[in-house]
Amino acid sequence: MTDHLSDLDVAELFPRTPFSPDAPTPRISVLGTGYLGATHAVAMAQLGMEVVGVDTDPHKVAALAAGKVPFFEPGLDELLEEQLASGRLRFTTDVAEAVGWADVHFVCVGTPQTKTSHAADLRFVEAATTAIAENLTHDALIVGKSTVPVGTGARLRELVARTQPAGVRTELVWNPEFLREGKAVQDTLHPDRIVMGGTTPESEALLRRVYAGPIAEGSPVVVCDLPTAELVKVSANAFLATKISFINAIASVCEAADADVTVLADALGHDTRIGRQFLDAGLGFGGGCLPKDIRALMHRANELGAHQASSLLQQVDEINMGQRARVIELALDACEGSVLNRRVGVLGAAFKPHTDDVRDSPALNVAAALHLRGAQVTVYDPQAGDTARASFPTLGYATDVEEAVEGADVVLVLTEWDEFLDAEPARLASLTRRPHVIDARGRLDARRWTDAGWSFAGLGRTAA
Ligand code: UDX
Repeated sequence: MTDHLSDLDVAELFPRTPFSPDAPTPRISVLGTGYLGATHAVAMAQLGMEVVGVDTDPHKVAALAAGKVPFFEPGLDELLEEQLASGRLRFTTDVAEAVGWADVHFVCVGTPQTKTSHAADLRFVEAATTAIAENLTHDALIVGKSTVPVGTGARLRELVARTQPAGVRTELVWNPEFLREGKAVQDTLHPDRIVMGGTTPESEALLRRVYAGPIAEGSPVVVCDLPTAELVKVSANAFLATKISFINAIASVCEAADADVTVLADALGHDTRIGRQFLDAGLGFGGGCLPKDIRALMHRANELGAHQASSLLQQVDEINMGQRARVIELALDACEGSVLNRRVGVLGAAFKPHTDDVRDSPALNVAAALHLRGAQVTVYDPQAGDTARASFPTLGYATDVEEAVEGADVVLVLTEWDEFLDAEPARLASLTRRPHVIDARGRLDARRWTDAGWSFAGLGRTAA
């Protein structure tokens, strides 16, 4: 017998618990370092916590550890470098070490659409949660951030209970993430709401410590049950998607009635109950979230017997996909019915500006469809050229706007980068074979382009 307890005895008698109000600042692990996880890890370090980012992909981990963000996200590179230098942030593939070290584990892995149905593929979420549970060495809070079908958290709780070592106390809660690509840093550091689902008073207090910075700034906190928190995220995305498909449906009425949907949207937007955001008619929504999230919700709503919600979202999806077909039609019209051997200049490949993400990009979808109809398509995007080429290597790629429109029979503006809105229409007209422009995002100044000699087509803007 010694008079003093060894460190090991202390750990055994008083297991480290982050749930106690006087526990030291919680250490954070973030599992999954894609758009969501990488940004979240950097933001947590920026908020003053010690953080480890974990990924199974050694290339991603090596890049992040070397201060390189493996995708384009404004402001993230600088913040990553700053936080690595602060010593608070590191990255690893060693999940056991990370879980043994940290107190709060954020699950930020992807939930893609399954190959065979509209359902979300939960394999990565299950694998990450299992890895956490298997490697726990002390009390911990597991926080789901990934977008999941309602009911997932309850299943994961059972999984954790089956897997975790005896004697360790865990809680699993849901804290959905609402970040937008292109504004990810701002959205993570200054969220417009913080949802905490399925918490006890202890885990709520711990999450409030983690988010003390944004809460002090005034970010509202919504505390709710687990299924409500899971549904908040998918419902938010479903609402945004519905708003876009609504204005696109109205755009077709505008076209038939010779009205201008852009002016109409401005007028609607002045009603504070409606708001102007997400009322830009055009090529519709794409990206890694909205399309798959509404499909997963459709699938889950049907499973739960909520068929009306599902059929509403089915309409939203159909209207959205119809916009792509409509732009292809406009391109065919501009080329007298066939694009075979015609040169098509495509401005934009990313699913929206300020990102290099081309996942389910409407722009690339249209470009590829015209290529399949025999057109010679040349694409230019200020950021997404490389990611686009990796997905669609058979399209032609230009290094600037002028190269993309050279000799074109028709030019399509498919992503609303400022560079395209600010372009000099007269100069571009002189480079084309025939100055036909299709403004698929409703953002060009129609008068400027027609004055410069272009024939102009848009969606829902015959009046323009
Ligand atoms: C979205 C949600 O906004 C975000 O809260 C969630 O966390 C993830 O999904 P993101 O995928 O980054 O974010 O894109 P978002 O800015 O929502 O745009 C989605 C798509 O809608 C884009 O293709 C965009 O071009 C399109 N869109 C947007 C329109 O067609 N019209 C609009 O008025 C607005």
